[in-house]
Amino acid sequence: ADDVALRSLGRGIRFGAAIDPEDLKDPAMRRLFQRHCSSLTPRNALKWTGTEKQPGVIQFDDADKIADFAREIGAGLYGHTLVWYRVPAWVDAITSADELRAAMNRHIDATVGHFAGRAYAWDVVNEVMDYDAAQWRPSAFYRLLGKDHVREAFERAHRADPKAILVINETHLEKAGANYDARRAMMLDLLRELRGAGVPVHAIGLQAHFRPGFDQLDAPALTAFLREVGKLGMGAYITEMDGSCRFAHRLPPTATQGDIYGQVFADMVRTVAATGTLRGVTTWGLREKFSKAEARQGHGCRARALLYDEDLTPLPALDALAGAL
Ligand code: XIL
Repeated sequence: ADDVALRSLGRGIRFGAAIDPEDLKDPAMRRLFQRHCSSLTPRNALKWTGTEKQPGVIQFDDADKIADFAREIGAGLYGHTLVWYRVPAWVDAITSADELRAAMNRHIDATVGHFAGRAYAWDVVNEVMDYDAAQWRPSAFYRLLGKDHVREAFERAHRADPKAILVINETHLEKAGANYDARRAMMLDLLRELRGAGVPVHAIGLQAHFRPGFDQLDAPALTAFLREVGKLGMGAYITEMDGSCRFAHRLPPTATQGDIYGQVFADMVRTVAATGTLRGVTTWGLREKFSKAEARQGHGCRARALLYDEDLTPLPALDALAGAL
């Protein structure tokens, strides 16, 4: 675990992690990102709520710092995210479809344009479906523009940077459950429609936030889903993998931390890789940030399970993931 470097293991698959501007101030964190990552995803720095708090007043200071660091360590920048239901208050207040469309397009042009040639991929559209049901989420975009806003967003992003890989990022497409089966079917319908119309959507993003003891990976269902995604000529990115240990007390008392989420990380990577669609794996950070006292949930497992402890001791998930890449 002390000498493993995830970026060198991927056989053409990028390994990445979410990063915050504060991480850049910590030399130990910089070394860890450099050692492991050939991709960096700004966790929050590119979100519209932060880049355009007032209409027309756009700033990319934090994201620029992350982009500079990515270049310094020879990593690609993975842009997250353009069209998401969490929008600045002034966007939520818009009541006219034309006005919202204009704001969305300006936002995409400004953001993708600013990072063109620096970001290799974008989560163009994020979480358009309800978390637990096969339904459109009633975001401002859906309310005023309908589902066609997805097509528009991808076409706009493609125009702003024709070389970028454009991803539709979604949660809970990898989980077991009838509601998740229905979400997979709904996503496939949407992808077929978009690809059939020639819309430049290149990959599916699988967030992969796991809650061991509460939900689990459905490897056969995910495999079947990704085979269809592959037939459409699309790839897959694991975009935000982490584990929540809120429900770890429901697991057998003999389970270890490695079983609890190291295993699910490895299973997830192996399942996607076996379909031939896997292009990149990103964990939603490298280090757990919760205080030991408040976050220990049993089984040595933390509230947000990642690859390193707060004091940067490697956790079992690091080796589990290294074995799967
Ligand atoms: C989360 C960040 O981790 C938090 O720091 C922030 O407060 C809220 O957003 N799905 C996504 C991510 O696509 O953008 C979310 O990130 C986690 C869920």
